[in-house]
Parts: sequence; C-alpha cells; structure tokens
Amino acid sequence: MTNHVPIIALDGPSGSGKGVVANFLSTQYEFHLLDSGALYRLVGIAARRTSIALENLPLDEAVLGEIARSLDVAFTSTNNPEDPLEIMLFGEQVGHEVRTDEAGVDASRVASLPAVRDGLFELQRSFRQAPGLVADGRDMGTVVFPEADVKIYLTASAEARAERRYNQLIDKGIGVNLHDLFQSIQARDERDMNRSVSPLAPAEDAFVIDSTDMDIEEVLQNVKAIVTEKLG
Ligand code: DC
Repeated sequence: MTNHVPIIALDGPSGSGKGVVANFLSTQYEFHLLDSGALYRLVGIAARRTSIALENLPLDEAVLGEIARSLDVAFTSTNNPEDPLEIMLFGEQVGHEVRTDEAGVDASRVASLPAVRDGLFELQRSFRQAPGLVADGRDMGTVVFPEADVKIYLTASAEARAERRYNQLIDKGIGVNLHDLFQSIQARDERDMNRSVSPLAPAEDAFVIDSTDMDIEEVLQNVKAIVTEKLG
C-alpha cells in the first residue's frame, strides 16, 4: 500500500523509559510523536485553571469530558532531544507545568473517567499523519491504535522506576524522598491498572520488554531490533 501510514504503539507504566524510547524512535524514523500522557496532563491543568479541585471526589465527569473535547493544544518540535515538544494550551506555553509530578497525578485522576478518554480519542487519532507515528501512552496498542504496525509494552519494577525518577530529579537539583516517590508510583500504577476503562495492560500482540535490569542503551537496542524487523 502506497499511502499506509505506519504506527509504532508504545505503552507502559510511569517511569518505564517510554519517553526516551519514543523520542529515539521518532528521531530515527522521522515520524510524528504523540505524547498522549501530555494530553491527559493538559486536561488536568485546564481543569485547575477553571478552579476544579481534582482531589475532591467524585469528579464531575461531564464537565471534565467537555474540557477534554474542547482542549486547544498545539505541539511544536523543538529539535531538542531532551525535551522534543513545545506545548501550548489555549495559546499559553505550559511545557514546564506539564512535566511536574502534580500534573502527572492529576492526569491519572482525570484519565479514569470514560468521558475524558472519549473526549481525547479523535484528537489522538488525528496524530496519524505521514510518514508515520510513534504513539506513547497506556492504551495506544489496545484502544486508540489497535491496528498499530508495531506494539511494544515497556515495563520495569516499581522500585526501579522510582529510583530512576529519583536520580533524574536529584540530577536536576530537586530534593526528593525516594520512599515518597515509590509510594506515588505505586498509587499511580494502582489507578492506571485498575480503572474500568482502558486499564494499562499489554496488547495481546505486544512485545513486552522488562527493563528492570537493563540500562537505556540495552532497551534501545531491543526496541530497535523489534521495530526494524516489523518496519524494515
Ligand atoms: O505518561 P504520563 O506520565 O505523562 O501519563 C500521565 C497519566 O495519564 C498516567 O498516570 C495515566 C494517564 N494516561 C492514560 O490514562 N492513558 C494514556 N494513553 C496516557 C496517559
């Protein structure tokens, strides 16, 4: 098929290294990049901007679903491999805010609502553009792009993921407590894996890579071998 637009779906829990792998693949193949987690984070940020307290349950699903559906976002490539996307929300640059742990926790809260997931569905599908797409998330291979050409599920133990995050933050000069990070990762896993809609799980036809005992170079080598075999 001449106009087939290939998709590489990359799923897995927080801190599994998906971001690095997604950036690597989109650079390598010159494919577009969908950071679907950023979209859930933006819904949380937009909700906070309208004074919705996301820690107060139950959440108003109809209002949050509408926020997701009407999200005005723009992603621009920066050519900086460390931080490849500049993110605008309603015309305001929010890149830094999107990456905070608070935004991740809020994202995980709004992501449990079916109306929010439905509200973001078409927007996510619209990222499929030539020459191809690397889609990074939790349900890329199972729900949003079940037809993906390559599906990879990247995971690691919660301890290993907490330690990686700890080292990243310490390197940036941000003081954190390893135990608090571990607990936060566990709580996020619990929410993401046990929600009733699109829970985090590998697609049946996904290649599963457990990176607990691998360094990033080893992970990239494994991923490259899988993608090369599938896409050439
Ligand atoms: O990948 P991330 O840390 O930016 O994702 C933030 C949260 O968003 C994550 O805890 C779960 C949710 N999410 C989701 O439910 N589905 C996706 N496709 C991507 C993220």
